[in-house]
Amino acid sequence: MLGLWDGGFIRSRLLALVLTGILLSRFFPAVDALRTAEGSPCADVCHKSSSNTTSSEIACLDASYNATKGRTFEKCVDCQLRSTYDNPSTGESDVNWGLYNLRYAFSTCVYGFPHSVSNVSSPCPVACDGIRPAIEFDLTNPSSFNFDAWCSTSSFADNIVNTCEFCYNLTTTQVYLANFLESIRYNCHFRTTSGKAFDIAPSRIFTQVLLPSSMSLTTSTPGGSNVNLPLVIALPILGFIIILCALTICCFFFIRHRRKRMRRNRHHNHLYNRWNDTTISTPKQGNSGWPEQQYPFASGGYGPGFSDSVDTPIHAPGPWAEQQMHAPGGYGNGLGFMDNDGRTQQLEYGYYQSGLAHGRAESPAVHPQAVPLTGPHAVEPEKHQNPQ
Ligand SMILES: *[C@@H]1O[C@H](CO)[C@@H](O)[C@H](O)[C@H]1NC(C)=O
Ligand SMILES: *[C@@H]1O[C@H](CO)[C@@H](O)[C@H](O)[C@H]1NC(C)=O
Ligand SMILES: *[C@@H]1O[C@H](CO)[C@@H](O)[C@H](O)[C@H]1NC(C)=O
Ligand SMILES: *[C@@H]1O[C@H](CO)[C@@H](O)[C@H](O)[C@H]1NC(C)=O
Repeated sequence: MLGLWDGGFIRSRLLALVLTGILLSRFFPAVDALRTAEGSPCADVCHKSSSNTTSSEIACLDASYNATKGRTFEKCVDCQLRSTYDNPSTGESDVNWGLYNLRYAFSTCVYGFPHSVSNVSSPCPVACDGIRPAIEFDLTNPSSFNFDAWCSTSSFADNIVNTCEFCYNLTTTQVYLANFLESIRYNCHFRTTSGKAFDIAPSRIFTQVLLPSSMSLTTSTPGGSNVNLPLVIALPILGFIIILCALTICCFFFIRHRRKRMRRNRHHNHLYNRWNDTTISTPKQGNSGWPEQQYPFASGGYGPGFSDSVDTPIHAPGPWAEQQMHAPGGYGNGLGFMDNDGRTQQLEYGYYQSGLAHGRAESPAVHPQAVPLTGPHAVEPEKHQNPQ
């Protein structure tokens, strides 16, 4: 067993394997070379009769971890990663050796280094090739001085680790390998202090569910306790201030808009009143433009028409307006003036429409009838014609 790689002992080892396999495989499985710290409580589990981890103990398919070889490996590493044992004289801890065994398994299965034990066809070794020098660094010469040395090699690249893990995650047969890689990378970023168990529970490593990337942990976990605290306080305040600013700006523009509109309306109102005044003071104006008055009115500029209509208020026959109110067409066409107090508007519009209907020659003397009615509501039609 000791001279596993010495050619002279292979035959005897095979003989021993056959014998023990037949007789005692249940009690002493032929897996005996997973290295652990000297004096470790895991020595029993790892069946340590040799101090070297060997490729022959490595299972590469997830399904193999249901078989004896894989199960033994899993048990050993499980024990090591949970162990807090730390050998003070050698400086080796069980966690160191557990992670070393994971790296060894990864190297064996992916790169076939130091010895190939499987020929699983997969594109992933190509995807993982960039970190090969890092993974293999000092793999055959482990010691307490170089357990983590591979992390600081130039070929250790997190993006390649990500690609590699992603690839193995896609295979349904070798997802464990992605978790092996993630575990050893995690320890590169967050060294396990001696005397402590490994942060990641082994049950999460020996499963086909990919571990979360420790890259995301590097940005969130350390920041979560210190850096984020001021942020957590500042962000809501900042948000509140931003919302307040936005509201203020909105209010400002809304009020300005309102004021502008009111000013415009007041201006118009003012103009209109002046119109009214002047027309009353100078009632005689030409009525020759009567037919054209329909159009300015319809388009909102009803001023001139009105001025004409005011010219002879005295002659207006009273009942005429009421007649017009019920005149067909006059009422229906007053849509533009639908209002609560639409009576006056309807009346006025109806008058104009009927004026058209009855012919241009119709005496404008009738117009004034509308004046007393429209007077107080003079602005109303304007509002409806320019809906804002
Ligand atoms: C373990 O491996 C080292 C180097 O690979 C070798 O020198 C040593 O003899 C081995 N130990 C045993 C017990 O096989
Ligand atoms: C191992 O066996 C159990 C049941 O025996 C099964 O549910 C599980 O999927 C197997 N694991 C692998 C990786 O095949
Ligand atoms: C490697 O592949 C060959 C045939 O492709 C097969 O016979 C052999 O068992 C395989 N070895 C392993 C370790 O899977
Ligand atoms: C790993 O694969 C599973 C499904 O097989 C998927 O749900 C998960 O998102 C994958 N993880 C990554 C990091 O790609």
